[in-house]
Amino acid sequence: MTAAASPRPRVLVARAVYPEVVERLRQHFDVDDNPADHLFDKRELAARLADKDGAFTTGSERIDADLLAACPRLRVVANMAVGYNNFDVPACTARGVLATNTPDVLTETTADFGFALMMAAARRMAESEHYLRRGEWNRWAYDMFTGSDVHGATLGILGMGRIGQAIARRGALGFCMKVIYHNRSRLVPEQEAPIGARYVDKGTLLAEADHLVLVLPYSAASHHAIGAAELAQMKPTATLTNVARGGIVDDAALARALRERRIAAAALDVFEGEPQVHPDLLSVPNVVLTPHIASATVATRRAMADLAADNLVAALTGGKPPTPINAEVLREGRLPAR
Ligand code: GLV
Repeated sequence: MTAAASPRPRVLVARAVYPEVVERLRQHFDVDDNPADHLFDKRELAARLADKDGAFTTGSERIDADLLAACPRLRVVANMAVGYNNFDVPACTARGVLATNTPDVLTETTADFGFALMMAAARRMAESEHYLRRGEWNRWAYDMFTGSDVHGATLGILGMGRIGQAIARRGALGFCMKVIYHNRSRLVPEQEAPIGARYVDKGTLLAEADHLVLVLPYSAASHHAIGAAELAQMKPTATLTNVARGGIVDDAALARALRERRIAAAALDVFEGEPQVHPDLLSVPNVVLTPHIASATVATRRAMADLAADNLVAALTGGKPPTPINAEVLREGRLPAR
């Protein structure tokens, strides 16, 4: 008697991604993909995932206890993002569902963009470009769009993980900036020394930074980590840059602070409730706004998609997923063995 071939695992690719990556997944799985890039609501996502073993997700799909309860076959959710606040990780772990993300491959690209945004805010690039496009530039003026220097200034980093450290390196080594940072845990001396980074409390960070860059993960603990009270502690000449997640900054409070010039300028790649943007931010001039594209280079987005696919393939074919979030699920051996 011959054993029946075990059915191929089924996976959902929840958003449109590189066709080559979807093709690669098809070599291993029955793939339900979404080339039209329809944004599934909660109910649609649960319906599409109900018979799936795995999911290739992006930050737009919420994987929580309700969804997991509706999708009992699900064994792995592979996020094409380093941030995973769209996952309820304890709920995944409780159900033995492996969660993975895409760290490292986007670190330098995201740091480039964070640094560029910080410079754009400091040197008033978007504000002056809008002025030029409006046809208002008709003469030179000694104080036209004077901003603040980046070189030699104090760079403050809130959240000194991989991306925070990469931004700090750019500041210290490329622009002779003094680096101060605050983080849940202090770096080891071997990490601090090459960039001269000084660990400070959050109050000191706010008070001393000329340019404050946010690179911390979003969680209940970091919700509105920068609100009216924190903005009031910053220098009136300071800039604030957020390349982390919406919700870390109280966007309404920031718009007020910018309008009243309580800080000089801001640069935001992420927003509370994105893709909606707080209307007050759209009408203040001294803020640079970009649509969550810090990791968006051709090479890096492809590397992120490849890594998410590597995780999915490994998890469902008995391999070792390269970047698990809740590795304890692997140790408990609930995924298929090779
Ligand atoms: C982008 O925001 C990411 O988390 O990768």
